[in-house]
Amino acid sequence: MARYITLSKAARLVGVKRGTLQKRIRAGELSTFEGELDVEELLRAYPGTQMEDNTMIERVERFMEEAFAKAMRHESEALDVHTLARRVSLLGQELAAAKTEIHRYNHLMEQIKQAVAGLQGGAEVAAFRSWFVQVLEGDEDQHGYPRELLDKETFLRILAAHVRVLPSGHDYFVEGAADLLDAGLSAGLSLRYGCADGSCGRCRGRLVSGEVRQTRTPVYELNEAQQERGELLLCCTTAVTDVVLEAVERRPDEDIQEQRLDTRIRRLQNCGPAMNLVELRPQPGQRLEFRSGQYVWLETGAGRGGEFSLASCPCDASKLELHIPHPAGNPAAGILGELNKGDSIMVIGPRGGFVLGQDASRPLLMLACDGGFAPIKALIEQAIALDLVESIELYWLDSGEAGQYLDNLCRSWADALDIFEYHPLRGGGEVAQRVDLFMDALGRDAVDLAGMEIYAAGRQELLPALREALLEAGAEAKHLHLEPLRQGEPVVSSSV
Ligand code: FES
Repeated sequence: MARYITLSKAARLVGVKRGTLQKRIRAGELSTFEGELDVEELLRAYPGTQMEDNTMIERVERFMEEAFAKAMRHESEALDVHTLARRVSLLGQELAAAKTEIHRYNHLMEQIKQAVAGLQGGAEVAAFRSWFVQVLEGDEDQHGYPRELLDKETFLRILAAHVRVLPSGHDYFVEGAADLLDAGLSAGLSLRYGCADGSCGRCRGRLVSGEVRQTRTPVYELNEAQQERGELLLCCTTAVTDVVLEAVERRPDEDIQEQRLDTRIRRLQNCGPAMNLVELRPQPGQRLEFRSGQYVWLETGAGRGGEFSLASCPCDASKLELHIPHPAGNPAAGILGELNKGDSIMVIGPRGGFVLGQDASRPLLMLACDGGFAPIKALIEQAIALDLVESIELYWLDSGEAGQYLDNLCRSWADALDIFEYHPLRGGGEVAQRVDLFMDALGRDAVDLAGMEIYAAGRQELLPALREALLEAGAEAKHLHLEPLRQGEPVVSSSV
C-alpha cells in the first residue's frame, strides 16, 4: 500500500530544500496526493538516500551543541531529557504494538501456508501455490515501507517534533527543547506574539492533537475555560510528539502595532569601506514584533534619529540588524554619530509594507542597489527559512556608494542552496545607466519576469525608472514591490 509523507518531512529525510522538491513536482518528476509525496516515488527520485547521510549526523551534532550551549547559559534550560525520554518511550510503545502485530501476522501466515500446501486441484491451484510461495519469498522492501527511510524517520522523530498550524496548513519542526513560538518564527512563519516570555498572552494558541510540555511558568495565566479548550502559550510550550495547533498568523497586509523598545548595541562591525553593521539587543523580556522587509525609527541618547530598514528576519531570534552608512574611512561620523558597543538606542516601529506576499511559493527576483540590500537581505532570510520558494535570484548593484559589503554572505547562500543564485553587478552613473545595468543583466540571463515575485530596493530616484523598465520587460504590476533606501537622514529630533 502506498505511504505518503509531507513535503517538509520528505525534504528532511532526503536532505534537500522543500523548494527543490516543489520544482520536481512542477516538472512532473514527482507526483503528490493531497499535497503529500509517495515514499516509494521519493526513494526512486533520490536513490542515494542512506542512513549514513551526513545531514542527519550534522543535525545531531548541532542539536547536542545547542543543548550544551543552553545548559551553560541557564540551568533551567538544561538539556531537555524529559522530552527526549517521552519521545523514546512513545516510540517504544509503538515498537511493542508493531511486534505484537508482526507476531499475529506470522502466525496467520503460517496457517495460510499450511492451508495452501494442503489444497488439492489441477494446474490453476498449482499456479496459485507457486505464485504464493514467490510472493512470500520476494523482496520485502519492494512492497513495504523502505527500511532506510524508516530508520531515518524514527531517528528524526526522536530529534524533532513536527508541527502543523491551522488554519494555514503551514508546518515546521521543533528541535530539542525549543518553544513552539521560537521554532515557528525560525521557520519563517509570521506567528502573532508580544513579549516572548509568557507575560502578555498574545501568542495564545490551541492544541488540536498531540502532546506538549510547558517549558517555563508564564506570568500570564490562562483561565479554566481556556485550559479546558486546550489553549496554550506558544512561547512557554514545546512539542513532545508531532502536534497540530491552531495559532494566529499575521497576514502580509495586516498592520502590526507600533512598539517602542529600549535596546543596546550588541555588535558593531565595520563592513566594507563605508558601512557599519549594527546589531541591537532589546532589554530582557522585550522583543520587537515585525516582519522581514519592514523599517523602524532609531533614536540615540544624543537625540539623533532616522528611519532604517531592518536587515534581519524575525526568524533569527531576538536579533535586530541594521546597516548604517558612514563616510568612507570614518565610521565614527555615521548618520547617527559615533556609536559604541553597549550604547542605548530607542527603536520605534515596525513600519512599512515591503514584505513577502501571501503566495510565498512564487520564484523570487531580488534587485538591490547599494544599501537597498538591507531589506532585501531580510526578505531572503525569511524566504530561506520558510522553505517554500522554488528559486531566489539576487542581483546586487554596487554603484560606488558602499560596495557589496556582504558579498561573502551572498556567496555562501549561493554555495549552500541550490535554489539561490547571486549576480553581483558593478557600475554607477545616472539613474538611466543603473537601470540599464539591471535590465541588461536580466536580459542576458533570460529571466522570465512574468512568472516572478519581484522586490527592488534602492535610492528613491531610481525606483520609478526601474519600475517602468521592469513592467515593459514583462513584470506584472501586482507582483512588483519597491522600497526606497532607508538609511536615515541627519535629523535632530526627540519625537517622532
Ligand atoms: S508572546 Fe507574550 S505570552 Fe507569549
